[in-house]
Amino acid sequence: MRTIHDLMNLRGRTALITGGAGHLGAAFGAALAECGAAIAVLDIQPEHCQKIADDLATKYTVKTLPLPMDLQDEAALKTVPETVAAHLGRLDILVNCAMMTRSPQPEVWDKPFEQQTSLNWRLEIEINLTAAMILTQACLPLLRESGHGSIINISSIYGMVAPDFRVYAGTDMGSNLGYAMSKGGLVQATRYLAAALAPHTRVNAITPGGIWRNQNAAFVQNYEQRTPLGRMATEEDLIGAVVYLASDLSAYVTGQNVVVDGGWTVW
Ligand SMILES: NC(=O)c1ccc[n+]([C@@H]2O[C@H](COP(=O)([O-])OP(=O)(O)OC[C@H]3O[C@@H](n4cnc5c(N)ncnc54)[C@H](O)[C@@H]3O)[C@@H](O)[C@H]2O)c1
Repeated sequence: MRTIHDLMNLRGRTALITGGAGHLGAAFGAALAECGAAIAVLDIQPEHCQKIADDLATKYTVKTLPLPMDLQDEAALKTVPETVAAHLGRLDILVNCAMMTRSPQPEVWDKPFEQQTSLNWRLEIEINLTAAMILTQACLPLLRESGHGSIINISSIYGMVAPDFRVYAGTDMGSNLGYAMSKGGLVQATRYLAAALAPHTRVNAITPGGIWRNQNAAFVQNYEQRTPLGRMATEEDLIGAVVYLASDLSAYVTGQNVVVDGGWTVW
């Protein structure tokens, strides 16, 4: 039997992280790089993308590759595996972590359902869900070849349960239906793909609870009171789950949703 240390060793493996220049994506990149993986950082923000890739390479002495790209560009997405293979040699881990962050209609973003638009719903489905599946399909030959293929879809508590709108009371914050639809879709896609891609590639999801980002104080207080563990999440709370699902620590786990939400969904 291998040791825990050996099971979590990712040296010689490569991870591709979408939204890799974002808060959680960058934390995932650091965690996987610390375990030895080379990291491809895909994100729509070119400068952040380059900086995160440079920082990871320097700090963890691993190969990295910035992939500045819009997930809505299907033709560009389909070139990603070839580029990753050319620069990093292989692909073992795909983390679908990006989410739509900019809307062409920001005035109705996070507004009550009556004011939401089909354009925003469509874009959230497109960026959060459909693009992840297009990339997953394109990456399959490399993941199959890996012998350790692992796909990790980043969902949300709002993909599992309805928002508790009371936490937004006294704030101008809210939650979009399109986000919930896309995140629920990712959990079901995880189950579908786990069955379809076994035994060569494992597919799992991580469901984070709300992460503290210095939000409106009333919201933070409402959220904390609503959460059994009494606080919002931090990026650090999520990195154990990604290392577990990416590595041989979870070699016999597929089709599962690891919920890291401080107990939010138990009520
Ligand atoms: N922050 C939370 O409280 C929370 C809670 C539950 C789940 N999540 C999930 O975690 C993941 C990461 O969230 P985060 O908080 O780190 O967000 P973030 O905004 O910091 O990161 C999202 C990244 O996606 C990138 N992105 C947006 N549109 C893109 C596009 N069209 N093409 C390529 N990249 C694009 C952004 O540039 C950004 O770097 C998301 O999937 C989110 O749904 C977050």
